[in-house]
Amino acid sequence: MGRLFSFLSLLLLLLLSVSAVFASSEFEIIVEVEPSIVSSDEVESTYSDDPLIRQVVPDGEDHTLGAEHHFTLFKTKYGRTYATQEEHDYRFKVFKANLRRAKRHQKLDPIAVHGVTQFSDLTPSEFRRNYLGMRKRLRLPVDAQEAPILPTNDLPADFDWREKGAVTPVKNQGSCGSCWSFSAVGALEGANYLATGELVSLSEQQLVDCDHECDPEEYGACDAGCNGGLMTSAFEYTLKAGGLMREEDYPYTGKDRKSCKFDQSKIAASVANFSVISLDEDQIAANLVKNGPLAVGINAVFMQTYMHGVSCPYICSKRLDHGVLLVGYGSAGYAPIRLKNKPYWIIKNSWGENWGENGYYKLCRGHNVCGVDSMVSTVSAMQTAAL
Ligand SMILES: *[C@@H]1O[C@H](CO)[C@@H](O)[C@H](O)[C@H]1NC(C)=O
Repeated sequence: MGRLFSFLSLLLLLLLSVSAVFASSEFEIIVEVEPSIVSSDEVESTYSDDPLIRQVVPDGEDHTLGAEHHFTLFKTKYGRTYATQEEHDYRFKVFKANLRRAKRHQKLDPIAVHGVTQFSDLTPSEFRRNYLGMRKRLRLPVDAQEAPILPTNDLPADFDWREKGAVTPVKNQGSCGSCWSFSAVGALEGANYLATGELVSLSEQQLVDCDHECDPEEYGACDAGCNGGLMTSAFEYTLKAGGLMREEDYPYTGKDRKSCKFDQSKIAASVANFSVISLDEDQIAANLVKNGPLAVGINAVFMQTYMHGVSCPYICSKRLDHGVLLVGYGSAGYAPIRLKNKPYWIIKNSWGENWGENGYYKLCRGHNVCGVDSMVSTVSAMQTAAL
């Protein structure tokens, strides 16, 4: 009896430790490490017949050409010039490291296509610093509410706010960590369309220049223009300020250190209220359909090399670092490798139309991939805007 008991407790202990390992890896997987940009010679020889590389080479090109050739194509396509030979050589090393990284991403994310993008000469930390910019949420702003639970039984199988005219063209945040402002503005543009029937492009620069909304509990955790911010804080600012101006009245410069030029007489859309949606994909879908495009946070590590397709990485950190706009979902992204259809989210990004699928990202749906369910907010616009 005693022996059986100790055997059982041993078994229990074993099970507990195994599940603990799983639980911790679920939350703490750090997929990316800074690529070592020094030892890149070994890749040179393995490139040539790599399918990943082939797909970034136009038809009719010689596929056996090496990294140098791909770098030349990259520089031409994205209009890159470097001031010095030293800078050029350094960027070439980074580029080669990113080719290896794209290859790793391709293995981890076989449904999507990864390869050379406009970010291929940036290290992961340069990419994070200049093209992301969502800070961590600590406390919600005082006026944030919890979204009421909505019925989910009659949701359409496919849904896309772009087809209904609620989404402005893809914008470009440039080299400025202002993603949060694009995400918040996109949500208000959609809400304003639902409230007024008019699609008006609104000003991100107003948020970059004027929104210094802070976490009430954390000293220094404030919206900070190109140095990052948070969508819910942006809604709080907009609620207090009275609204946002039109894009054309307060155009985007992608630069900090400008004084606030907000003109209250030119408000084009106002916030009625905003809410945070629970971590449940059906609730997210129901809120999307009912309230318009949603502001969401995601982990953007796979987005540096993403070209097209439904991104569905086997492992992806849930550490949120990028703010984007959820505009719809689809039920049948074709997945040749897994031989089945993958439901996905349709996400509007703010890196211009040349990134991803004409500026959009498809991320698979169903299990909080890259943290997409973790920080979702919705905003309602006032019925009658001041203009
Ligand atoms: C938010 O505002 C909208 C539009 O005015 C309104 O219909 C809705 O009931 C409000 N929601 C909450 C939770 O107050």
